[in-house]
Amino acid sequence: MTDSRTKFRIFRWIKIIVGGFAVTVVLLFTVACIRTLSLDVNVGLKLAHWEKTDNISLVIDHRLREELLANFKEAIRIPTVSFSETESNTTALLEFDRLLRKAFPTVFSSSLVQHQYVANYSHLFWVRGSQPNLVPYLLLAHIDVVPASESDGWDAPPFSAKDIDGFIYGRGTIDNKSPVMSILQALEYLLIKGYSPRRGFYIGLGHDEEIRGYHGAVNIARILKQRGVQLSFVLDEGLAILDGVISGLEGPAALIGLSEKGSANIKLSVSMVPGHSSMPPQETSIGVLAAAVKRLEDNPMPRLFGYGPERGIFEHLAHKFRLPLKFIMSNLWLFSPLLGRVLERQPETNAFVRTTTAVTIFNAGVKVNVIPSLAEAYVNLRIHPAQSLQEVVDLVHSTVADQRVKIELVDGFDPLPVSSADEKSFGFQIIKKTVLEIFPTVTVAPGICIGNTDSRHFKELASDIYRFAPVWFKPGDAQRFHGINERISKRNYEELVVFYFTLIQNCDIQKLPEPHSFVHDL
Ligand SMILES: *[C@@H]1O[C@H](CO)[C@@H](O)[C@H](O)[C@H]1NC(C)=O
Ligand SMILES: *[C@@H]1O[C@H](CO)[C@@H](O)[C@H](O)[C@H]1NC(C)=O
Ligand SMILES: *[C@@H]1O[C@H](CO)[C@@H](O)[C@H](O)[C@H]1NC(C)=O
Ligand SMILES: [Zn+2]
Repeated sequence: MTDSRTKFRIFRWIKIIVGGFAVTVVLLFTVACIRTLSLDVNVGLKLAHWEKTDNISLVIDHRLREELLANFKEAIRIPTVSFSETESNTTALLEFDRLLRKAFPTVFSSSLVQHQYVANYSHLFWVRGSQPNLVPYLLLAHIDVVPASESDGWDAPPFSAKDIDGFIYGRGTIDNKSPVMSILQALEYLLIKGYSPRRGFYIGLGHDEEIRGYHGAVNIARILKQRGVQLSFVLDEGLAILDGVISGLEGPAALIGLSEKGSANIKLSVSMVPGHSSMPPQETSIGVLAAAVKRLEDNPMPRLFGYGPERGIFEHLAHKFRLPLKFIMSNLWLFSPLLGRVLERQPETNAFVRTTTAVTIFNAGVKVNVIPSLAEAYVNLRIHPAQSLQEVVDLVHSTVADQRVKIELVDGFDPLPVSSADEKSFGFQIIKKTVLEIFPTVTVAPGICIGNTDSRHFKELASDIYRFAPVWFKPGDAQRFHGINERISKRNYEELVVFYFTLIQNCDIQKLPEPHSFVHDL
């Protein structure tokens, strides 16, 4: 995943909030308390009536364990690195294709599965369902990884898949070869056991996600669009199971990403008559541009906490917080403005509150005694789900407010639509049910991704896109993403195989149970 290092940092700030709310508004306390209590009452009792479709079980014995770990390790050892926007290790990508065919012979030979290459190195699988009236879904993952060098301080060479204390170390163990391999491993085992899905599904494996997916994911999406496919939902990488990361929260939380921030790169330029530095004009292109940049920094985009899906995270998790956080989280109708103000104090949490503005390039001048004609700067903005690209561009214009500064949108996209997470939401409920079956102690809640994934190329094919894999994150693990010592425990990898094995079968239900019979765990 792109930008994933910053992704989970939000959760650190929860510590800050406790301090920030030491002062309580006594008058409002009574009203708020009633809400806190009623949340407890709601915590689920009724058992939902789900049609049973996970009839095939997977018992992982010694032989299977050895086999699935060996396949995974081989995948880690192939350095499928995306070096830059234009350079990938294509030798490794071809080698990876050979590994998939060797490791999953049943997938590649089954009459239920159609495989095709996309842009030479990406893969699209279609697993035919017996009931064509059931809307298919798509499981997405990516084969490429960001570069890694042992000299950065790894405890094991990054493409060694070395086993240390129950963990497999290596670039791609989390991002994103564990889903790539476990999805296909699960399908291999299902097919061997004679499974034939009712609901057809696609598996898409991109080869250039780390460089924006313009060849892999974009073309997979184009092919599906040409075929007129509509998807029930898409499940891609993104968030994970956070264990001990959110302070004040009792037990681990599985966060399902419902949206991603948008992005804009804007170029600011000022062009003036060049001249000799001995007779300078009152203002130079550099001065005018610097003032414009300063105005952008001094006037951040509006605070939007409470207007996007970030609020849902807290509302879903409220009952699992200890007091006094529980009180605050279950009363966001009251506290969100205040919470927004606390969150904006730290860069990590500010990212969840508003569209961020970062001036990343500033170029001007060539010679010490020449007044330059041209000065230019680039600004990278990450757009909050409650704002549009156009609104952000308009705000940049009105903040800069200087005709001499030319403002051009270089590239950008809107925040991704917010996927549904209610009782009628097929994908969300299936993912949630599967998580709870395998990890009964985990709380499932919606979340939001600051970084971007391949799934953003699929928004015309599915209104519901979820970003999640059941990878366990403990404090400090977020830094391993795109960092050093990326690793996954062997046990967790096995859990991933079981997760997809179960998820695929759970998707075979005809329809969701009626809303009132759900396990209520808001
Ligand atoms: C699963 O088994 C139940 C009964 O044990 C049966 O009613 C149901 O049709 C089976 N589902 C599938 C998808 O095979
Ligand atoms: C590319 O991958 C191959 C293995 O498939 C490896 O031998 C080679 O060293 C890699 N090249 C670079 C530049 O990393
Ligand atoms: C795929 O490979 C062919 C032949 O090697 C090449 O001409 C083409 O440009 C490649 N396409 C992509 C998208 O990389
Ligand atoms: Zn990734």
